[in-house]
Amino acid sequence: MKPKVFVTRPLPAEALDLLAAHCEVQVYPSDSALKPPQLAEACRDVEGLLAVGVRVNEEVLGQATKLRVVANCGVGYDNIDVAACTRRRIVVTNTPGVLTDTTADLAFALLMAVARRVVEADRFVREGRWQRWEFGMMWGADIHHKTLGIWGFGRIGQAMARRGRGFDMRILYHSRRRADEALERASGARFVDRDTLLRESDFLSLHAPMTPEGYHLIGGRELRLMKPSAFLINTARGKLIDEEALVAALKAKTIAGAGLDVFEHEPHLHPELAKLDNVVLLPHVGSATGETRLAMATLATENLLAVLQGRRPPNAVNAEVLNYSADTQSQVKRQRTKA
Ligand code: 8YV
Repeated sequence: MKPKVFVTRPLPAEALDLLAAHCEVQVYPSDSALKPPQLAEACRDVEGLLAVGVRVNEEVLGQATKLRVVANCGVGYDNIDVAACTRRRIVVTNTPGVLTDTTADLAFALLMAVARRVVEADRFVREGRWQRWEFGMMWGADIHHKTLGIWGFGRIGQAMARRGRGFDMRILYHSRRRADEALERASGARFVDRDTLLRESDFLSLHAPMTPEGYHLIGGRELRLMKPSAFLINTARGKLIDEEALVAALKAKTIAGAGLDVFEHEPHLHPELAKLDNVVLLPHVGSATGETRLAMATLATENLLAVLQGRRPPNAVNAEVLNYSADTQSQVKRQRTKA
């Protein structure tokens, strides 16, 4: 009998076909986030969950007694209670690598758009406000030869550094763990402490994962340390920034502007953000290209199938679950069936 799998949003046919070849698949037909109670209901009887933009918490897991794998379609997995999954010996996987360059492309696009006022200028032309060419019109800020600060130096942070180098930028970075010498040399990025990064960056781009320590990494104090001419770019997670403090800083011109793809309470915006000209705002589309979405869906599918077929998945987040002996696994299964 094929194992039952639930997919939380419609995915490209290629990925669903691959899944359907090995599993009994049910796909939630709408591209909207299922709430935990509905998700819990849908997961009651399944062994695999392919999670796309949903929260997987205790409420969902508590009833999913047969669940063996949560395959997240995304590199960030702050939407999943990994500790709760580990306690239940459920494998959690994510999709690193396939979205690295795509997300860095968008971060750089945001950086350029806000520095050169691309969206504001487009609006100006589109609305028929452009009457004549002026020497003093729409001055922005140079990008080349400026300092790019990167907070978080994983795959996407490093890809951002490569883009900065292409623009002859000086690259600084800060990360929980310092990169090894070879990587620093290859990427041309210099490690600095947090405050130096804040003080010296002309563009500060966030690429840190959302962990409890990352909550409001950038608040009033950090924004005050930045240059008044600096721009803040966020394609990572909204809660890394204290949005209230950011709005205050943007209004007071404590910093020059911000390019944001993610928000503290997305999809809800801080009411003041949309009123500001010195921001570019995007609806969390960092990895949204046809090629990358397909690659993410395919990798999530491969991860899910690997676990259900007793193979090691390429991208386990809680690998300790895989190292559990078969004996212990069947013991846990028995306990969960009883519970
Ligand atoms: C996903 C993302 O689209 O990969 C991530 O971490 O933020 C996005 O690429 C999002 O997580 C929905 O699953």
